[in-house]
Amino acid sequence: MLTLRGQQALQQADLVVGFKTVLDVVTPWVKNAEVRPMAYRDQEEVLEYAGSQAALGKDCVVCCWGDLNVSARELLLRVKRRVDRIELIPGISSVQMACARAGISLEDVVFITLHQRKEPVSDLLELVHYLKENKRHVVLLPRPWDLMPASIASRLLTEGIPKFRPLTVYQRLSLEGEESWHGTLEECADATQEFSDLTIMVFPIPEMHAEREADAKGVI
Ligand SMILES: C[S@@+](CC[C@H](N)C(=O)[O-])C[C@H]1O[C@@H](n2cnc3c(N)ncnc32)[C@H](O)[C@@H]1O
Repeated sequence: MLTLRGQQALQQADLVVGFKTVLDVVTPWVKNAEVRPMAYRDQEEVLEYAGSQAALGKDCVVCCWGDLNVSARELLLRVKRRVDRIELIPGISSVQMACARAGISLEDVVFITLHQRKEPVSDLLELVHYLKENKRHVVLLPRPWDLMPASIASRLLTEGIPKFRPLTVYQRLSLEGEESWHGTLEECADATQEFSDLTIMVFPIPEMHAEREADAKGVI
């Protein structure tokens, strides 16, 4: 799902950096660039190097999964701190992929990410709020590895979300090894399988509520 503009940026780059797993996917489109993979522990050094190369007039590309406007704020801020000029090239987000696979429209969705370095309490409360409200589908990014589908489902059960609430967990969307798991909240809480770090959860509005909404609209 790499866009044409993304491919072009990679082909024209002098330096390409990003987390190793991301670079493994995009390197086939790199032509002449130096490729510098990074990990959480050395990302500051690698980005510092990219900043120094950009200052020398080199064309540097920093890659992230999906779309940079979706749950990639921390990386974006680290890059913005180091350069004066940056072109943001949007991509296809895992959120859009999940909507396509689930057959739902973005305008009917509430998106919540737990994939942030902060206390997740308020995000979890928001999640509970929207699941109880039942007005929109909820698309959720878990947090590797402490807030993954089974532990999120257990927390939701303790917050009073019904155990038969359906959900789908998508893994590695559009990538090799893509998979989906479908079941109830209770089944998800009991799931012993290991989910990938590239996992996204979709809680569709339960059909009963969706039908009621449609009826109400028909009456109007
Ligand atoms: C730091 S966030 C970045 C999100 C990304 N910017 C996007 O637009 O999808 C990383 C998280 O996004 C989700 N994610 C990214 N790519 C995915 C994929 N191909 N399949 C499923 N989930 C994915 C996972 O929850 C992963 O832990």
